[in-house]
Amino acid sequence: MFTSKSDRPTELLDGQGELGSAAHLAAVARAGELLRAGELVVIPTETVYGLAASAFDAPAVRAIFSAKERPQDNPLIVHFKSLPAALDLCPRDVPEARMLLEAFAPGPITLVVPSDGRFAAEINHGLDTVAIRVPALETAREVIASAGVPLAAPSANRSGRPSPTSAEMAWAEMAGRVAAVLDGGVCRVGIESTVVDATETGGFRILRPGRITAAQIEQVVGYPLRDPPEDEESEQSRRSPGTRYRHYTPRVPVVLVAPAEIDRAMEDLREQRLSGHGTAIWVLRLGAPADRRIRAVGDVEIVEFTDFEEYARRLFSLFWSAEQAGAALILAEIPDHDTAPGLLDRLERAATGRYPDLPVD
Ligand code: TXA
Ligand code: MG
Repeated sequence: MFTSKSDRPTELLDGQGELGSAAHLAAVARAGELLRAGELVVIPTETVYGLAASAFDAPAVRAIFSAKERPQDNPLIVHFKSLPAALDLCPRDVPEARMLLEAFAPGPITLVVPSDGRFAAEINHGLDTVAIRVPALETAREVIASAGVPLAAPSANRSGRPSPTSAEMAWAEMAGRVAAVLDGGVCRVGIESTVVDATETGGFRILRPGRITAAQIEQVVGYPLRDPPEDEESEQSRRSPGTRYRHYTPRVPVVLVAPAEIDRAMEDLREQRLSGHGTAIWVLRLGAPADRRIRAVGDVEIVEFTDFEEYARRLFSLFWSAEQAGAALILAEIPDHDTAPGLLDRLERAATGRYPDLPVD
């Protein structure tokens, strides 16, 4: 089931060299050339790796869905090379859309705006809206400029898997399904962009939490955001079909631990009271900077983060490493809702239980 137009093996392009160096220019130019020819290329962004194709090329956009095994009704984000290019899509009668882009783009924010139908219809499956974003990672913007067209790009995972945050992870998901993977190093943010419904003036709301928080957005738009409806089957799922699907499920069960419980959970580990789950248990928790290292207690891997940013940056790659290591269970400390809503959302979507109730093995 090759979705690339030709049956060549996937190329690995090294985009990690210094910006402007001959090697970097060559990697970016090759990615642009393949995209112009209607091929799929995995590209780095500051959030996660994206599976990109020309937003004007309907067969290439269809190939994205089959390479990802993604349901056709889950729409894609269109990525632009610059702020002015994205501003061009902002409706004149919704001034906050422009204000938000000017405040946060290039950066980890996506706006859902009315669509004028200029892109391949497969991108938004007949919705009257389109999601737009300007990535902060310079290499990503250079590839878009080199391709000469905006790029449709979902996260470069197969459907239902954690998003890749390194070229190694993206390669494991997509080699053999795409023409090339462009290595741009480890993603700085590590979770996907904040998606904002920006269709209605005075009525913005967050459809997917991310690094940019509600408080930051409210400061720019000047009013409280509307609450996302609680019911997943309701209007929100119609507006953001992606929220209907279960996401970010690692193969290792993830159990959330409240901050007040983390020390008790560690004590249970030390006393081997969680041994029903085998010995290969990973613990993700915040730790004091002085303490910061991966320590092993028996076969327990303890990963300590300095702050929520580091926790988010490393989350998906730690899920991946725990899978590779054959871990039996991940215990993950719950982050603060107001400070790290995006991280909390990804953990809740990944979780199979809450300490002290563990999944049955
Ligand atoms: O950080 C990111 O946003 C990454 C990088 C690659 O840019 N991309 C990403 O794309 O996460 P994807 O396809 O995995 O997630 C896009 C989300 C989905 O939940 C989708 O339903 C929603 O955005 N979305 C896209 N177009 C939409 C639209 N027209 N209306 C509502 N929601 C939309
Ligand atoms: Mg995704």
